[in-house]
Amino acid sequence: MKNSVRPRETREQAAQLGLPARRAAVEVLAAVIAKKQSLDDILGRSLSSGGMLDLPVRDRAFTRAIVGASLRRRGQIDAVLARFLERGMPPKSGSLYEILLSGAAQLLFLKAPPHAVIDLAVRLAQYDPKAARFDKLVNAVLRKVATEGEAIANSLDAARINTPDWLWTRWVAHWGEERTRAFTTMQLVEAPLDLTVKSDPQHWAELMEGRVLPSGSVRLQPKGRIEALPGYDAGEWWVQDVAAALPARLLGDIAGLRVADLCAAPGGKTAQLVQAGASVVAVDSSIHRLELLKQNLSRLGLEASVVASDAAQWQPDERFDAVLLDAPCSSTGTIRRHPDIPYLKTAKDIEILAGLQARLLDRAASLLRPGGRLVYSTCSLEPEEGEAQIASLLVRNPSLRLDPVDAAAIGAEKDWIAPSGVLRTFPSQLQLETPEWSGMDGFFAARLVRTH
Ligand SMILES: C[S@@+](CC[C@H](N)C(=O)[O-])C[C@H]1O[C@@H](n2cnc3c(N)ncnc32)[C@H](O)[C@@H]1O
Repeated sequence: MKNSVRPRETREQAAQLGLPARRAAVEVLAAVIAKKQSLDDILGRSLSSGGMLDLPVRDRAFTRAIVGASLRRRGQIDAVLARFLERGMPPKSGSLYEILLSGAAQLLFLKAPPHAVIDLAVRLAQYDPKAARFDKLVNAVLRKVATEGEAIANSLDAARINTPDWLWTRWVAHWGEERTRAFTTMQLVEAPLDLTVKSDPQHWAELMEGRVLPSGSVRLQPKGRIEALPGYDAGEWWVQDVAAALPARLLGDIAGLRVADLCAAPGGKTAQLVQAGASVVAVDSSIHRLELLKQNLSRLGLEASVVASDAAQWQPDERFDAVLLDAPCSSTGTIRRHPDIPYLKTAKDIEILAGLQARLLDRAASLLRPGGRLVYSTCSLEPEEGEAQIASLLVRNPSLRLDPVDAAAIGAEKDWIAPSGVLRTFPSQLQLETPEWSGMDGFFAARLVRTH
């Protein structure tokens, strides 16, 4: 095939055609899939530095939608593409895969007009020196996707095929197939936006066309920029999944107590602790993330001491009434919000993180005064980062005992608490009228008391 690289349109011409949002989606997908960069890093960096998503707000939303559908439905899309790529994906074809993936996502799941999707995908191939010779292939494959793809995609087991094998296997082994199927089905739908409000949730829910959840969080359908929502500038609320708002509550009445928040940034839980009247030291090893924590607390009009340190090595000259350790983890409980996670993390990462979590737990326990309380939490569905950590901590540290959690005392539903008294939530819980209004992050949290 002849290699005919197409000269680029002017910026204005490209914008009119709807090219920039699609080009950005291809670039973001390549960064996630080939370079293992996280969406938060790519989108955060590019939004502030005028990089690949230097786009008008409307285009940015479209890029996010394309990337989200491509990653959430990658298994289905790959299976559809495989039917039409008789000789498989050609090697050394530049961004061809990402062009086909994002094109098929638009056709099958975003219901974008086929003519525009196919024409622009062909152009994107023609701009890429390595993909240019496959422009006719892009046209032929996406035409077939447009006409025959939906029936194929619908015939597939979506929950199973969109979950990478390594995650499916470990989840079925830990949680059983029925539960795994339930939460992987929820992972196909974008999560709603949850806010923790300082006061009067009913007022904020009405103002933003949302609803108050039983535990007091306000749930909205995400649209537009968060900073533009009422009450943002006045610091009346912060973004926090309903499940992420629970661990800090496990500490009970902390008014007037001295609390260490280890692994604190960007500060969602720090804000809860301060708001509950505690005197808080917020520790995190990331200077950049601590800047975000400071900005968040300042917007909210809340104060905490901030320490930049590796929490596993931190040696303050005091003992605390309570410690919250919201440890770094694989984040597999947040795949609904972060559909890139299955393609970034590996089983090896879970093993490495579990080692770090154990070291952090040992240090956290040593910071407690006798009678003090420790809450350990992770936004992970992996028992190695939750139940198993607590079981081995209790063996290592006889001065700690597990303090079972009462659902009603923290505004939780009964089935969010496991029989042993730890908090264990799944994305399939909190079912409301539609999938878009339903669900919660998968979280683990345990409360321990230092007896002597
Ligand atoms: C799950 S996030 C914390 C979220 C935060 N608690 C909140 O509610 O907003 C984990 C944090 O641990 C921090 N971290 C990772 N390793 C650490 C270590 N060794 N010591 C202290 N902080 C660490 C990361 O920088 C990250 O901010």
